[in-house]
Amino acid sequence: MKIFDLLIDSIAEHSYGVTDDFFTPKEVKALVLILSQRHEAGIFRTAGIGQKSERHVQDKVRGDHILWLDENSVDVDEQAFFYKINTFITYLNRTCYLGLRSFEFHYALYPIGTFYKRHFDRFLHDSSRKMSVICYLNGDWQATDGGELVIHLPNAESVKIAPLGGRLVCFEADKLEHEVLPALRERLSLTGWLRTD
Ligand code: OGA
Ligand code: MN
Repeated sequence: MKIFDLLIDSIAEHSYGVTDDFFTPKEVKALVLILSQRHEAGIFRTAGIGQKSERHVQDKVRGDHILWLDENSVDVDEQAFFYKINTFITYLNRTCYLGLRSFEFHYALYPIGTFYKRHFDRFLHDSSRKMSVICYLNGDWQATDGGELVIHLPNAESVKIAPLGGRLVCFEADKLEHEVLPALRERLSLTGWLRTD
């Protein structure tokens, strides 16, 4: 598939890739509806930092609210999303020999004014997260809405990516430091990791 070929070429060259056509506007709408219904049901929680006993909530570092997706969900729109991710995993394994075996994704909602400070997506005692994948669900996001993802490239200028609906960004989880600038409008995404276990 052309989208995946372009993404993989970009990852091989720059350690990250962006495509604007991962979701159709219809798919974005369907996922936003699920996200909104579950958020209104009060089952999202404040995101934390670290794993297990090291885990703590720290709103000076990140302010998003999250809900993990269930791979066995009977929701057709979530199943369609998992199918796309599995296709991407198959491509990545075939072309980059990453040995990916599983994934984990959560919905994320950044209330107005929240952000996620500069960090790496990796835990101290767990290196199984290989690729970070972020799918944005924001219809007509404006430049004045802030909330950009900034990827800090080791030997080049940083890149700023707006969280436009339908757009997917992926990068090597342990290689690139990144941050989310303060969102001036509620900011929605589906964020996750492709794993080797
Ligand atoms: C994360 C993260 C970036 C984004 O959840 O770890 O860095 O653009 N998200 O939402
Ligand atoms: Mn991150």
